Amino acid sequence: MSGKIAVVGSNMVDLITYVTRMPGKGETIEAPTFRMGCGGKGANQAVAAAKLGARVMMVTKVGDDIFADNTIRNFRDLGIDTRHVQRVTGTSSGVAPIFVEPSGENSILIIKGANAELKPRDVDLAADDLKGCELIVMQLEIPLETAYHTIAFGARHGIPTLLNPAPAAPDLDPARITDVTFLVPNESELAILSGLPVDGEKAIETAARSLMAKGIRTVIVTMGGKGALLVTPQGTRKIDAVAVKPVDTTGAGDAFIGSFARYFTETHDLDAALQKAVRYAADSITKPGTQTSYATADEFEAMVTCSPLAPR
Ligand code: RIB
Repeated sequence: MSGKIAVVGSNMVDLITYVTRMPGKGETIEAPTFRMGCGGKGANQAVAAAKLGARVMMVTKVGDDIFADNTIRNFRDLGIDTRHVQRVTGTSSGVAPIFVEPSGENSILIIKGANAELKPRDVDLAADDLKGCELIVMQLEIPLETAYHTIAFGARHGIPTLLNPAPAAPDLDPARITDVTFLVPNESELAILSGLPVDGEKAIETAARSLMAKGIRTVIVTMGGKGALLVTPQGTRKIDAVAVKPVDTTGAGDAFIGSFARYFTETHDLDAALQKAVRYAADSITKPGTQTSYATADEFEAMVTCSPLAPR
């Protein structure tokens, strides 16, 4: 079993509408299907790692509405440690209306709700348990100050950290994340962070290296259907995508990060963990929903063994 992973991050209730097309301004159209599920980038990453057998602890906040109980129950059902999941009175839980088009592509709105109340002090309250973790994972559906504080905490205590700068935060200060072990943006987040174009692999590498020039050590760029790019001081390596028919791409980036966290903490083999993460994320887009599309360890191993996913 891999070492314990902590996610200091968000949870949301996903309200997913599958549309035939997006409505125009002032237009009402009918959509064929709706699905509600547990989501939020932090929770998704925690769930992916837990479904793959990792020991996971969640540091997050829920509101005082009916969604909160469901979110906590979902964590517990999946064996996720909820001792640092706090309820905030007078606030809604995080909610995400999502629209998925026939191509599988999604558009997401987020209402942070209680996630906006996850403060540096909450990280300090969880400090004793965080010190026992092998990796701390964060995203940006929580206050930036909390992410900065957690990265500094990890550096102080020798615990590796991973920041997924999603959704993109134009005011994120690269100087305050230089101690992060892994920065994992997608292409558009990288463009916003670096202020550079990301059209093509060479440009993506240049943009990643511009962040490394500011002190960040390792950048892993997720490129959707094109795979991922690992950029380190030692060199750059492309991890090829696998060919699948997309049904719903929502949460694919989270599947990538959760599975990477699980396999990296088990083996400390960066290349092998990234290969698995690309495959795990690809599998997730062949099914509807976010956390519901994540395979368990048995399902994933059986799939990779019995019918290896063909390189794109
Ligand atoms: O990355 C996908 C997630 O983004 C969804 O689950 C939604 O809740 C938003 O946080």
